[in-house]
Amino acid sequence: MIPRTKPEVVAIVVAAGSGVRLGREVPKAAIEIAGIPMVTRAVQAMLGGGVDRVVVAAPETWVDRFASSLATFADRVKVIPGGLMRQDSVRRGLAHSGECDIILVHDAARPLVPPFVVDRVIEAVKDGAAAVVPVIPQVDSLRRIRRSLTVAADRSAFLRVQTPQGFEAEVLRQAHANSGDKEFTDDATMCEAIDVPVTTVPGDGLAFKITEPMDLVLAEVIARGES
Ligand code: CTP
Ligand code: MG
Repeated sequence: MIPRTKPEVVAIVVAAGSGVRLGREVPKAAIEIAGIPMVTRAVQAMLGGGVDRVVVAAPETWVDRFASSLATFADRVKVIPGGLMRQDSVRRGLAHSGECDIILVHDAARPLVPPFVVDRVIEAVKDGAAAVVPVIPQVDSLRRIRRSLTVAADRSAFLRVQTPQGFEAEVLRQAHANSGDKEFTDDATMCEAIDVPVTTVPGDGLAFKITEPMDLVLAEVIARGES
């Protein structure tokens, strides 16, 4: 159960990926958007949205560099080495999360997430949801692959999932303890595997994930427009 008054909220920002699809020399989370590294933007969004402490999972050889770029937040942010797969990075973050009531897991690759989405996710967990995901509607038409052909699928039956995802701390710890070596796309899916229902809240277009070079161009334009 989440305490009604002042629950402790920790965010794990996973930033240990290399960004193969972006094809840059530096890890994706170190890339600057309008002069500010993605990882810094992601951490700022978490703190601005009501998170108390942040654990950042960085690429192993970048821990010191990430820590110095986050030095202004040193009292509330800890940088640790991430793992081979995203879920390993989350697991390492969990080991450093300390005593807390609510845990958010956020992709550093979604640096422009508005703080109000972060707040919305936290509030949903406070209101009793054990696992929460922000979602947006699917805008493109979808086709399902069936053997060598495709058939139209009902777009309204699908939602796109973003981060931060929010969890009762104990639920997320259990989900990870039970997951073994099986690969999961995200933490909500891992919770579902132990029969925890997943609640949705409205996400936001600005929480889009930077995956390919074009996404970086879009993020740069948006961030410059804001500053
Ligand atoms: N991530 C992580 N540890 C890993 C792999 C991914 O912390 N071993 C993080 C990434 O840093 C990113 C988020 O998980 O913030 C989502 O992953 P993705 O967008 O796939 O980023 P990358 O794995 O870095 O990109 P790519 O798959 O193109 O290499
Ligand atoms: Mg990846």
